[in-house]
Amino acid sequence: MTAQAVTSERMSGCVPRRIVLAQVAGFCFGVQRAVEITEAARRQRAGRLTTLGPIIHNDQVISRMQAAGIEVAPDLEAIPDGTVVLSAHGVSPDVVAKAKSNGLDIVDVTCPFVTKVHRTAKQLYEQGYQLLLVGDPGHTEVKGVVGAVEAIGGTVTLVSTPEQVRALSLGKKVGLVCQTTQRGDNWAAIVGEVSRVATEVRAINTICNATDELQEAAVMLARQVQVAIVVGGRKSANTRRLRQLCADQGIPAYHIETPEEVEERWLDGVEVIGITAGASTPDWLIEDVARRINGGVLPSDWRLRHPDEKTLPPV
Ligand code: F3S
Repeated sequence: MTAQAVTSERMSGCVPRRIVLAQVAGFCFGVQRAVEITEAARRQRAGRLTTLGPIIHNDQVISRMQAAGIEVAPDLEAIPDGTVVLSAHGVSPDVVAKAKSNGLDIVDVTCPFVTKVHRTAKQLYEQGYQLLLVGDPGHTEVKGVVGAVEAIGGTVTLVSTPEQVRALSLGKKVGLVCQTTQRGDNWAAIVGEVSRVATEVRAINTICNATDELQEAAVMLARQVQVAIVVGGRKSANTRRLRQLCADQGIPAYHIETPEEVEERWLDGVEVIGITAGASTPDWLIEDVARRINGGVLPSDWRLRHPDEKTLPPV
């Protein structure tokens, strides 16, 4: 993968400035889908519409949604009536049941890649495998997968590192799935560790490609530019990771939420500026940043591409 071709030139003082956009940047398929479904629900439904937690780790998008009449609540108890939008990361079946028993209408925006993790975990359990989930403790997606397996009477053990596998009592038949945003090398190391003990191992790699694509594109970008601007919410872990990956290539890399945060001194004497963005950053925000750097207009051959979705699993 290579970064996109140089997109524009602008004079800053006597330094010609070029802007290079990462080959892929911004919204992943699941986040874009969740935002679109939620906005459509607002247009189509009367009454209160509330997301269960922020639907996306981007305060600017949340603010726009709130201005359009979409509320945010930390839990079901804080939603008195109307429609609740469930997380793109998925929820446990008991959350769905509770929302229904509270009399709420439900809009489910669970990403199909996350639905696949739920389905695969339940299948492995039903096929008699001792089930391991590779993921991060406390993550919303992990809670949903654990809840889905428990809802059919199963059990699942959460592991985050190969060292934790060594401390487990494993049987001979072990099945594994993983949180969609896990790192591939950690997944492989854990599967390898399980294989040292179990004789029948069924490991279904449920990692979503979007994260890898964004990271690979950020690294390629950083190798071609002098400064990287990484756009995304402060709370967005994947945006922070992109900034770190750019910095690891030995260039200054700045994480910003809004165009106003770009400081001219970062760009003083810089000829080639790279832009990328996390999976929860909308196009309009990325483009506003590009305009600010490029004298108020988008670079002439600007073409923003998102991570590929061609490997979308059946729902
Ligand atoms: Fe779905 Fe992958 Fe995004 S799991 S929410 S498309 S990072």
